[in-house]
Amino acid sequence: MNYNIAVIEGDGIGPEITREAIKVLDAVGKKFGHTFSYTHVLMGGCAIDAHGTALPQSTTDVCLASDSVLLGAIGGPQWDDLPGNQRPETGLLALRRAMGCFANIRPAKLWQPLKIACPLRTDIAEKGIDMLIVRELTGGIYFGDRGRDENGAYDTKRYSEHEVRRIAKIGFDMARLRGKKLHSIDKANVLESCRLWREVVADVAKDYPDVDYQDMLVDNTAMQLVKSPYMFDVILAPNMFGDILSDEAGAVTGSLGMLASASIGETKCGLYEPSHGSAPRMAGLNKANPLATILSAAMMLQYSFGLQAEAQAVEDAVLHCLETGVRTYDIVGDTGVTPVGTREMGDAVAAAVLA
Ligand code: IPM
Ligand code: MG
Repeated sequence: MNYNIAVIEGDGIGPEITREAIKVLDAVGKKFGHTFSYTHVLMGGCAIDAHGTALPQSTTDVCLASDSVLLGAIGGPQWDDLPGNQRPETGLLALRRAMGCFANIRPAKLWQPLKIACPLRTDIAEKGIDMLIVRELTGGIYFGDRGRDENGAYDTKRYSEHEVRRIAKIGFDMARLRGKKLHSIDKANVLESCRLWREVVADVAKDYPDVDYQDMLVDNTAMQLVKSPYMFDVILAPNMFGDILSDEAGAVTGSLGMLASASIGETKCGLYEPSHGSAPRMAGLNKANPLATILSAAMMLQYSFGLQAEAQAVEDAVLHCLETGVRTYDIVGDTGVTPVGTREMGDAVAAAVLA
């Protein structure tokens, strides 16, 4: 079967990490008899430079006409002085919205061979960390009214019942497929939109009596993530809380360089991107860890194409590389091994897929 994938390399390390994910997808195609065709399009800073806008219409059109979208990362200091509504990030937000990708799925687990890279005390790491962040992606404060007036500046956080209900359902469905435990994150002691969030999630929970569900305030969650991360299974969070907690979860499990993500929603066509940024200072140095992007491509195989065995093959290949000591600089810890570069990591994973 042939799958059409739109590829947005983006800025900074984006082109390097997407290249490695494509290498791994091609290895999967070879092994399992699929073909993947790629259409490269621009979004982010590079699109601003080439077309004067972070998300050209042609990019949206190609993405919507594809089976799925693979994205590297966007942004960089050269676009920092642009007005807020013209920054590279606006392209990403608009694309998520245009594609209807309201659910961002971010698995954060401590890979067995990477315990050494975990910054937490050994007795905590020993208990195992394996959670899934389900982040609402197309609503909340990211998309509310914002601006400046004579008094200052404002951003608005607004959620409709419908937006909360549909993301909560995804959270509970995912919990059912995993450890049957869900923490719903809010700041309901202060924010009205969070009180609605809590009410609606509690209502959805009634349809999932088999899932152990609990509300948790976001500040407490930030603390529990470092104190007892082993207690979490599915974390359901509004847009910005999910953004913040996923970086924390990435750090707790060793490196943000391992944190994949899938943005899915109304159709099978999802947006797959690492949870980390474009690391401009590392661009072109063959240093970045491509595993978050490679694992995002594995999520594409699973969620957009329904290719479970293929997705598992990529995960197994990554595990094999980590077990045999193939490490980029961010996950080398004090193993004493010499870190490999972006390209070499991609080569190693692709070879392990084919082995
Ligand atoms: C992420 C990123 C983005 C976000 C930025 C680049 C707009 O931090 O995907 O986590 O905040 O969603
Ligand atoms: Mg983020």
